[in-house]
Amino acid sequence: MKTKSDKTMALEARKDRRTRTLCDFRGIARRFMRQCKDLRIGAGAASPSYIGKRNFLQCVCPAPYEFALDIQRLGAYDLWRMRRKRRVVILGSTGSIGTSALKVARCLPEFMQVVGVAAHSRVKDLAAQAHEFGVRHVGVFDESRRSELSQLLPSGTQVHVGAEGLCELAALTEADMILVAISGTAGLQPTLRAIENGKDLAIASKEVLVMAGELVMTRAAAAGIQVLPIDSEHNAIFQCIHANAGDPERVKRLILTASGGPFRCTPENELERVTLEQALRHPTWNMGRKITIDSATLFNKGLEMIEARWLFGVPIEKVDVLVHPQSIVHSLVEFVDGSMLAQLSCSDMCFPIQYAVTYPDRVDGKLRPLRLEELCDLHFELPRRDVFPALDLARRAASVGGTMPAMYNAANEEAVQAFIDGKLSFPGIWRTVEQVLAGVQPHADCPSLQTVLDDDAAARELARSVIG
Ligand SMILES: NC(=O)c1ccc[n+]([C@@H]2O[C@H](COP(=O)([O-])OP(=O)(O)OC[C@H]3O[C@@H](n4cnc5c(N)ncnc54)[C@H](OP(=O)(O)O)[C@@H]3O)[C@@H](O)[C@H]2O)c1
Repeated sequence: MKTKSDKTMALEARKDRRTRTLCDFRGIARRFMRQCKDLRIGAGAASPSYIGKRNFLQCVCPAPYEFALDIQRLGAYDLWRMRRKRRVVILGSTGSIGTSALKVARCLPEFMQVVGVAAHSRVKDLAAQAHEFGVRHVGVFDESRRSELSQLLPSGTQVHVGAEGLCELAALTEADMILVAISGTAGLQPTLRAIENGKDLAIASKEVLVMAGELVMTRAAAAGIQVLPIDSEHNAIFQCIHANAGDPERVKRLILTASGGPFRCTPENELERVTLEQALRHPTWNMGRKITIDSATLFNKGLEMIEARWLFGVPIEKVDVLVHPQSIVHSLVEFVDGSMLAQLSCSDMCFPIQYAVTYPDRVDGKLRPLRLEELCDLHFELPRRDVFPALDLARRAASVGGTMPAMYNAANEEAVQAFIDGKLSFPGIWRTVEQVLAGVQPHADCPSLQTVLDDDAAARELARSVIG
């Protein structure tokens, strides 16, 4: 009689194990869908087509974590691990967030692979990144830099240019996550393209959600994709909310913390003399110019209030701000039972980026741990709303809704640029935004992309004429 060799038997046993694992896996998928229904997760996230074609381990709900643990317990660890490695395109890779994202990729190569990078015009930095990370797709917004970039890149690298180039990168077949870290409004169209193509999103560019939060979140839910916030405050809230079944009904208040910026204690009458250099001196964070100035005027927090409203599906009245100069508590959630959850870490954007990339898992990325015993004080105070009107203006813009938040953002961008160019005083920034918001006629609820872009342009034009 013919006997099976050890090798054949081992192969058959492996095949049998694999078949059983797949059966277990399908069973878990069915259970996971039931959990989604119980937790009232959006239809997109729980739909069979989503389960079938997407990385269902990681959609926005607390269930996948248990699910992943189930898989680990059942022995399909390799499958889980394979799916955990994120293939990421970084839009805005040469900026402050972009370089932090690359730092995370450097520290966690088994969790994050960079498959595309893009920037506005810093082609030397882009080329260096392409060489270091072996990236085959590089985008540059400024079309005049195409040939310079092409010469610097390894042969075989594909160059994508202009606004359409960014959209091509957002739809890249090799990618499963698009990290949007472009300053300003240029991130909106690639974000929508990423959603259309079923890519998960890690969003740092707050402008995207401020301009078109309703559009982005509605489309993302319908497509069943994950929207992970990278802004440290929203990432903190995301962590707190999802530790509590992610139900907005249980949330009483979202409390965004603000460092207060360099002028937290400056008397009002001295703000008129503030220089660009002083405004760029942030006490706790090292960031790009625009966001640093927004932190000094509190417009950054205003934008974040609107961003939070869309990300977490709560009315703007439930979004509050507390000044916390140490920037250790990144934000808090107050629940209906009066309990509060907060997320704390050192001030380093690698924390939220790493969390987004490894979600729902947590891994040791060798980031500096927080030593509470070394902190002398965690201080909280109310913002000076009478001196810095950016927060009340944001609340008003969000209450009006429609394209008003986009106009708030557009007017602020124009005013900040004018301040940088020396054409406007520091308080001139909020005076300009106040005047623009009083003079515009926004469109109502859930505007189309074109309406958002038209109203954005109208607000900019009005702001420029106000600035003179
Ligand atoms: N920095 C932070 O800690 C932080 C925290 C939370 C949220 N955010 C948000 O994240 C976004 C980026 O902030 P940042 O501080 O990293 O800004 P940044 O340092 O000024 O970097 C901006 C990046 O965007 C690129 N860029 C600008 N316009 C572009 C365009 N039209 N097309 C393609 N790329 C373009 C820049 O390319 P070039 O280098 O070629 O100009 C650069 O890579 C902002 O929306 C900000 O509000 C930042």
